[in-house]
Amino acid sequence: MSLPLYVQGAWFFGALLFIVGLKGMSSPVSARKGIVWAGYGMLVAIAGTFMIPDLHNIALIGAALLLGGAAAWISGKKVQMTDMPQMVAIYNGMGGGAAAAIAAIEFVRGDVHSTTVTLLAVIGALIGAVSFTGSCVAWAKLQGVLKKAHRLPAQNAVNVILAGISILLGAAMVIMAPAEPGLIYAFFLIALVLGLVVTLPIGGADMPVVISLFNAFTGLAVGFEGYVLGNPALIIAGIVVGAAGTLLTQLMAKAMNRPLTNILFTPMTGGGDGGQAIEGTMKEVGPVDAAAMMRYASKVIIIPGYGMAVAHAQHKVWEMTALLEEAGVEVKFAIHPVAGRMPGHMNVLLAEAGVPYDKIFDLEEINGEFPQCDVALVIGANDVVNPVARTDKSSPIYGMPILDADMAQNVIVVKRGKGAGYSGVENALFYTDNCRMLYGDAQPVVGEIIQNLKTLG
Ligand code: TAP
Repeated sequence: MSLPLYVQGAWFFGALLFIVGLKGMSSPVSARKGIVWAGYGMLVAIAGTFMIPDLHNIALIGAALLLGGAAAWISGKKVQMTDMPQMVAIYNGMGGGAAAAIAAIEFVRGDVHSTTVTLLAVIGALIGAVSFTGSCVAWAKLQGVLKKAHRLPAQNAVNVILAGISILLGAAMVIMAPAEPGLIYAFFLIALVLGLVVTLPIGGADMPVVISLFNAFTGLAVGFEGYVLGNPALIIAGIVVGAAGTLLTQLMAKAMNRPLTNILFTPMTGGGDGGQAIEGTMKEVGPVDAAAMMRYASKVIIIPGYGMAVAHAQHKVWEMTALLEEAGVEVKFAIHPVAGRMPGHMNVLLAEAGVPYDKIFDLEEINGEFPQCDVALVIGANDVVNPVARTDKSSPIYGMPILDADMAQNVIVVKRGKGAGYSGVENALFYTDNCRMLYGDAQPVVGEIIQNLKTLG
């Protein structure tokens, strides 16, 4: 059925708004506005759908919108910043699942006729189904529902065989179109199992990259199904999400120095496997001395990590920064590209606390400054400052670019205990002569530093 111009136009306008929104999201300054623009795009695209003449099942569509909208509204209001990756995973899974479901309905109804459309519908369905179950596993792992990585014997061979079968079944559906229901069900079943089996062995440390990869998959799946349905909003949004997801996946894999093939086929499961034993002892410092070291420094570089996010310490950190600056200390923030649990995690938290953007520096910009810095204050960061990534070829994180905190004159590390970072690898920084550990939850610890800075005047 060819749709009226006003419906096509509304979808196209919605897609334009998605692009404007995405552009906004490329900078922390305009990110909030970007999200709102993309939201308007979604509203326009939905309104366009309701303008389709003789639209059926309006009550069902309305109920789905109400249910989905309410669930998203409530979960969006309640979610903690630290739980954002699992939220992204589950929403992304829903997108992939929706694309696969659209294809399934079209196939079962026998609505896909031309070979090109069938081929695109099959590809979209395969990618969407894999992304759906894979994202559900990613959610379960990050939410702590699935605690262990499950690796099958001959895991990679199983992955290849399942992928091969699903491609063969998909090819049969294209050749035999319209396909028998049995063939359609078998194809979807294998594709769904493939997503599960590929994702189950991947450990939590690699999960954000996998989520980003599935995000790219979902985008592609939506784009393909958009072609099948003749919906430009889906095509454009799908391509944009697919391209952005692919770039993000590449950037994250590069920042961790983990080729995507390693992440998918030789997952790092954590637990400290590999790496040389570290000699020496960790030396402690109290908040009184830590405050004095920073108060009488000329330059302090603060390195926030996942622990700062968990402790919600960003506001206190900014209060401490202001006191140091009042005392004439130069303070900068150093952000590692994979600090925290998702891209931009630290930037968002610092921006929320009011830290100006000109005080926040990326790894390449700031690494050269550590040797001239009196104190590097590491707050709840671990892997991103671990020098074994530079020195120990046997370490699982060898080659990952790190912030060179160990090169500062003095290092103070705020964390609760002696435990390893997310990768499970021991941190050699904590044992170096110039490093002092300041144990405790980041928020009260920084609070104590603030009190001491105030007494130092
Ligand atoms: P982590 O290596 O996870 O270390 C965080 C540290 O914070 C822990 O050692 C923990 O030590 C401490 N901590 C936890 N809660 C705390 C609290 N309430 N107060 C004070 N300290 C607390 O963090 P990171 O250095 O930010 O590194 C990020 C990791 O995530 C890397 O391994 C990276 O590869 C991985 N990753 C990130 C991304 C993105 S995009 N961000 C993507 C993929 C993978 P205690 O338990 O002793 O307190």
